[in-house]
Amino acid sequence: MNEKKTSIMTKVKFTRLTFLLLFTLFAVNNPLFAQAPDGDAAAALPAGLSADPAVIAKGKEIFTGNCTSCHAVHEKVIGPALFGVWDRAPSREWIYNFVKNSTKVIKSGDPYAVKLYNEYKKTQMTSFQNYGPAEVDAVLSYINSVKPPEPPTTISTTDGGGTGTSTQADGGYTTAILTILIIVLVLILIVLGLMVNVLTKFLQDKEDLAEEDKEVVNQKSDLGKFFTSNGVIGIFIFIIVALSMKAGIDGLFTVGVQQNYQPRQPIAFSHEIHAGQYEIDCNYCHTGVRKAKSANIPSANICMNCHSAIKTESPEIAKIYKAIDFDPETGEYGENTKPIEWVRIHNLPDLAYFNHSQHVEVAKLECETCHGEIKEMEVVYQYAPLTMGWCINCHRETDVNTKGNGYYTKLVQLHKESKGGKTPMKVEDIGGLECSKCHY
Ligand code: HEC
Ligand code: HEC
Ligand code: HEC
Ligand code: HEC
Ligand code: HEC
Ligand code: HEC
Repeated sequence: MNEKKTSIMTKVKFTRLTFLLLFTLFAVNNPLFAQAPDGDAAAALPAGLSADPAVIAKGKEIFTGNCTSCHAVHEKVIGPALFGVWDRAPSREWIYNFVKNSTKVIKSGDPYAVKLYNEYKKTQMTSFQNYGPAEVDAVLSYINSVKPPEPPTTISTTDGGGTGTSTQADGGYTTAILTILIIVLVLILIVLGLMVNVLTKFLQDKEDLAEEDKEVVNQKSDLGKFFTSNGVIGIFIFIIVALSMKAGIDGLFTVGVQQNYQPRQPIAFSHEIHAGQYEIDCNYCHTGVRKAKSANIPSANICMNCHSAIKTESPEIAKIYKAIDFDPETGEYGENTKPIEWVRIHNLPDLAYFNHSQHVEVAKLECETCHGEIKEMEVVYQYAPLTMGWCINCHRETDVNTKGNGYYTKLVQLHKESKGGKTPMKVEDIGGLECSKCHY
């Protein structure tokens, strides 16, 4: 009878322990708990801004009516993302003046305004003569009330473009959280152990305990035993195994994966201007893309076809001149050349073989399928994961482009006979999943 009771009490203890552990896990992971500090931050309104719904509604009306053609709250559009402008602009007064007449502020030589103006390719912001401090504050209050979007899965060209980082930083973040979690769990276990010890001591000194309760109290539940008990060890092992499995799997899936990698380039070359606005063909610069394995990064000579005459006074173009030792004053070339050191973005490991002409010229795939909307990229980033799984998936799903390709006529015939002509021929069917096709 007593033995039974003891074992029940032990069970109760472990149930409580497990519950506590689960609760801690839940609390650490749960956005409800994590967001508590956020709420506090929202409570601390930047000076002069309001949380009054009426003011915010008025601000929203002005903002959507006048500003959204060029601005968004958390993203760069034609003008900067406006969230936090109250912290970065020189003063509130400055913002009032800039909205009223930005040209005047820039012409006055105000360094912040001039820098911003140059950064935004000398785009004129519309003047809003009839908006004073009240209207601008309403707009800012509205902007302050808009929550940032969920973390993006791809880096859009947000503020400042290339930040020289890749989202691999997220990996570090997760590791940090996991480490903290483990530390917290260990601490909780220690505290629980100590509490059990203290309580036991306290109860042991008590005289008026019932016989049954004494049994429970007197069972050897000291710290050492607590940590060596099967339950606790089991929980520990489970946690460690689960965590290391997660780390291992994450690691395997991200070996060499550089998706979204967007380094800062030595010259602020923009595909958005060249391939987008001026519609220069990709092929004009990436000369190898239709006929060779590699697409090629253009040499400075190709830039000079235009930039010997276009934007000659720009400091960015001056970097091209410096690289090829060109003197725009005299139009002469010197000896002291050194290539522009573009930072390579896409880079398969040496063990893999990828051929552009096969995909662009033979398969007639668009660049955008693998590189994203390059024509809209101010700064290029790696759009696709470039993993083996990614290549294989596409080879499984994509029909071979056999139109007007004599080479395939026979294969198509064979394929039709073997599959009864039902399914179109996929890359898979021409050997696109064979290891040796992609690996040397
Ligand atoms: C025609 C496009 C356009 C419109 C419309 C426009 N802006 Fe701008 N805005 C810009 C550009 C571009 C800049 C960057 C500076 C420059 O090039 O003059 C800018 C800069 C700003 C800045 C300074 C941002 C910073 O980072 O310091 C503020 C504040 C601002 N705009 C507020 C507004 C508000 C408020 C409205 C609507 C009432 C508005 N803008 C409408 C284009 C626009
Ligand atoms: C005027 C010349 C020019 C044109 C036109 C051009 N590019 Fe580029 N491209 C460059 C230069 C220079 C770089 C290297 C600097 C950079 O990454 O921005 C580059 C880089 C790239 C990269 C990244 C290369 C890497 O390092 O992995 C891709 C992908 C790319 N271009 C695709 C395209 C596509 C697609 C088009 C057509 C829609 C195009 N480019 C049109 C000049 C050009
Ligand atoms: C076919 C013509 C052409 C070629 C080739 C070309 N560009 Fe341009 N580039 C332009 C035009 C047009 C502009 C936009 C000028 C403007 O905004 O008024 C421009 C703008 C630029 C700018 C922005 C300058 C500024 O200060 O606003 C940079 C930087 C630039 N190009 C770099 C390059 C580089 C690097 C290459 C070679 C890889 C290159 N360009 C090749 C036509 C060309
Ligand atoms: C089927 C997917 C795919 C298509 C379509 C594609 N690319 Fe690529 N591109 C890649 C891969 C993968 C790499 C990395 C190659 C490497 O590291 O060996 C790459 C690399 C590049 C590079 C970096 C330099 C180099 O050759 O390694 C440039 C520039 C580029 N691509 C431009 C283009 C252009 C322009 C087009 C369209 C005409 C295009 N790509 C179409 C997958 C593709
Ligand atoms: C968007 C779809 C797509 C992606 C992504 C893609 N491929 Fe392909 N690939 C094709 C198509 C379509 C063909 C068939 C071309 C042809 O008709 O020869 C092909 C053909 C090939 C071939 C020749 C296969 C054969 O049997 O002749 C190789 C090798 C290859 N791809 C390698 C790669 C590698 C490596 C990657 C990843 C870095 C990759 N591909 C990513 C669509 C894709
Ligand atoms: C369509 C092209 C393609 C085919 C087919 C293919 N691979 Fe790969 N493989 C790749 C690419 C691309 C990478 C590099 C991926 C990366 O960097 O994450 C790779 C990477 C690998 C790696 C290294 C993994 C790592 O983490 O570094 C191994 C091992 C490998 N492949 C084995 C194979 C075997 C075995 C087969 C045949 C069953 C095969 N591959 C078929 C494209 C292919």
